[in-house]
Amino acid sequence: MRTQVGIIGAGPAGLFLAHLLRRVGISAVNIESRSRDDVEETVRAGVLEHWVVELMQELGLGERMLREGHFHDGITLQWNRERHHVDIQGLTDGKRVVVYPQHEVLKDLIAGRLSDGGEIIFGVGGTTIRGIDTARPAIDFRRDGTGALDTIDCDYVVGADGFHGPGRQAIPAKNRTEYQKIYPFGWLGILTRAPRSWHELIYTNQQDGFALLSTRSPDVQRLYIQCDPGDDISNWSDDRIWGQFHTRFGTDDGWSLTEGPILQKGIIPLRSFVCEPMQYGRLFIAGDAAHIVPPTGAKGLNLAVADVLVLSRALDAKYRGNSQDLLDRYSAICLRRVWKAERFSWYMTTMLHRNELETDFEQRIHFADLDLVRSSQASARSLAENYVGLPFD
Ligand code: FAD
Ligand code: DHB
Repeated sequence: MRTQVGIIGAGPAGLFLAHLLRRVGISAVNIESRSRDDVEETVRAGVLEHWVVELMQELGLGERMLREGHFHDGITLQWNRERHHVDIQGLTDGKRVVVYPQHEVLKDLIAGRLSDGGEIIFGVGGTTIRGIDTARPAIDFRRDGTGALDTIDCDYVVGADGFHGPGRQAIPAKNRTEYQKIYPFGWLGILTRAPRSWHELIYTNQQDGFALLSTRSPDVQRLYIQCDPGDDISNWSDDRIWGQFHTRFGTDDGWSLTEGPILQKGIIPLRSFVCEPMQYGRLFIAGDAAHIVPPTGAKGLNLAVADVLVLSRALDAKYRGNSQDLLDRYSAICLRRVWKAERFSWYMTTMLHRNELETDFEQRIHFADLDLVRSSQASARSLAENYVGLPFD
């Protein structure tokens, strides 16, 4: 089969790209190794930056998000058993974030793409990238995992295939540099059937460290807690999990966390990672394929969308104006934003987690950082600007 842009992956990066390209009349096909059900049911990120919310609406995909998403004009930070409201909206000229889960975004993107006549081939196997240093690159894959061999002949290949996909590996090792930081803690995340306990997200660093209270719907809540990244989930009984949540969210003003049955639980490791450059020949990598942030700043999904917005503009300039300049600068343009998101995610992560490898001095500095957000408007504004999404420069 032949298309202009062959996209590996039907996650946020790959699907937003397909929609953005369609808007400017460029054809694309997505191949995806997982089934549609799997893609639509995997629970991941939750927070959309203000401009991603606007983009969903511009693309005609925002109807359900506006109906079911939760608009937040601030977040709560908690330490020393006290809460502090960060007025995100007031500090950023009225910008807000929306809590609308990644798998709901993906359902909207997939349904929209298919109803536009776009092609997404789910359940493929054996994805192989060829000819990216020639004018005729191609992607080989097998339908239904191990079925007939098929090929997408295209002008450009996009690796929107997550951290473990083949996209990044197709850039010769000598042509890329990878920067990485592994954190000595992970997140245990749960979904619980319970009413909301608090009107906004709470990020807390208390006693044994970090916890986050977020939401999914009026009767399903999402909570995270810092844990050993190598721990087995079977070591965490529901009672132990709730005990830790009560300790970490505890205050002295009579507030209490609402418990409910735990519907799902799992542990993820935390890492920071950047691959430079994000392109080689006719291959461009985007999203988690190129960079990972620890989830504390809620940046992963948003950064994936930022990459493909830059890429769609560069491809538009190439096809419409025959200008190569933006395509050549794709990686440099993206990396400016990527490193700022890496910085913010690292700042939120180190400030809000208890790291046993750090000295007591460093732990005190993190509480001073939190207190600065409370007492300094400049510090609070910096956090707020990063949280809602920095402007594109
Ligand atoms: P992905 O979503 O990983 O999509 C890539 C797609 O490519 C996948 O569907 C994959 O199946 C497909 N693929 C891979 N290899 C192949 C192949 N060979 N052939 C065809 N298809 C292939 N971010 C937050 O901000 N907050 C969170 O709470 C949060 N929680 C997370 C929890 C987990 C377990 C994970 C893994 C990530 C989490 N993230 C979170 C990060 C966020 O979900 C990602 O940044 C976001 O999904 C990136 O989108 P993407 O499209 O770049 O990559
Ligand atoms: C959620 C995840 C995050 O990483 C975050 O910072 C805020 C909310 C969530 O899953 O709801």
